[in-house]
Amino acid sequence: MSAPQTRPLGIGVIGCGEIAQLMHLPIIHELPQLKIAALCDLSRSVLDGLGDHYGVAARYRDYHDLFRDPAVDAVVICTFDHGPVVRAAIEAGKHFIVEKPLAFTAQEARPLVAAATASGLTALVGYMKLYDPGYRLALEKIAAIGRPKMIQVHDFAGRFDRYQQLYTQLRGQDVDAALIKAGQQEVAGRVATMLGCGHTAYADLYMTLLMLGSHDLAVLRGAFGVAETVSYAQAVGPTHLMAVLGFADRVPALLEVAFGAQYEWWDEWMTVHGEADEVRIDFQNPYVRNAAAIVRLREAAGEGPSERILPGTPETAFRRQWQHFIACVRGEAMPLTPLQGGLDDLELAERIIKALPARALNEAAA
Ligand SMILES: NC(=O)c1ccc[n+]([C@@H]2O[C@H](COP(=O)([O-])OP(=O)(O)OC[C@H]3O[C@@H](n4cnc5c(N)ncnc54)[C@H](O)[C@@H]3O)[C@@H](O)[C@H]2O)c1
Repeated sequence: MSAPQTRPLGIGVIGCGEIAQLMHLPIIHELPQLKIAALCDLSRSVLDGLGDHYGVAARYRDYHDLFRDPAVDAVVICTFDHGPVVRAAIEAGKHFIVEKPLAFTAQEARPLVAAATASGLTALVGYMKLYDPGYRLALEKIAAIGRPKMIQVHDFAGRFDRYQQLYTQLRGQDVDAALIKAGQQEVAGRVATMLGCGHTAYADLYMTLLMLGSHDLAVLRGAFGVAETVSYAQAVGPTHLMAVLGFADRVPALLEVAFGAQYEWWDEWMTVHGEADEVRIDFQNPYVRNAAAIVRLREAAGEGPSERILPGTPETAFRRQWQHFIACVRGEAMPLTPLQGGLDDLELAERIIKALPARALNEAAA
């Protein structure tokens, strides 16, 4: 099961779109312990462009074929619908990182978590923010301020296009649009079934919570464990959610997630209010390399206030995640972001949406 340590770990990249091209492929390419062993995408032109660029001959349009390739020791799953690919990876005995969210519903995710655990494979959810040196530093500061009075997590994201244009991306025009649409509709059907008729109207809000907010649920969980209660939820807009969660020792957290704010800055932060001190983490746009989250500390200094800014060590969280993955495969570390956390977040996302008042499909957001 564990790969030989003398040669680089052969990585198959499944889904060669934006996040694979901007982060995973360049990092796998540059880390000496890894080798891009195979590529898989629906687009032949993307496969050929990236295969030529990275010198990878093994190019597959069906991930089942990639899993039969003996040069592939492990995979990173960067498709839209992860569940079926995760299942195939476990069946093929390949270690893997699956991009967030682990799946679209907790019901889909539960058997995946059980199968991954039973397999003994290294299986990580790609919650790269938990590997960010700024976040790790903030955890130490949070632990030092005692029981928080209040936690706030805010994620309005920002203009992705500003950062997308920093990179050259290959986009395929040769994928059957009907095939993509059918896949999206199939997922929408699974989500609607899970939400039930009273909450189907919140499908876009649920997807916002999964595609953007799952990072924030993971960041909260990484610091405070799994939320015990959801005492309030409000649909501020179709993709704008507010919720009040309760953690151990009745510590409350206000969560706000919105997609489409279009700010010129990246607007994602967590503030932890202690009795006397405050820790705030400002996350960076995920597409910025070599930039860690920034930690701001407000403390009492004698009779007055003080404020310190602690930039995390320059690093790309995605690179740290890959280094951790290598250590896990070698048996030198235990997964920091195991699949169970991805399931915990899906269960919480479902609880948050179901805490909203039931409403008919044609009712506009409040
Ligand atoms: N960690 C992060 O910060 C972060 C950032 C962006 C995206 N993501 C996640 O990464 C995943 C991909 O996002 P993206 O922005 O790269 O999307 P994308 O649409 O740019 O890329 C997806 C790629 O997967 C390919 N694909 C789809 N189904 C496939 C299949 N069955 N077999 C092979 N290839 C298939 C598509 O052709 C496309 O090239 C999503 O799950 C998203 O949530 C994570």
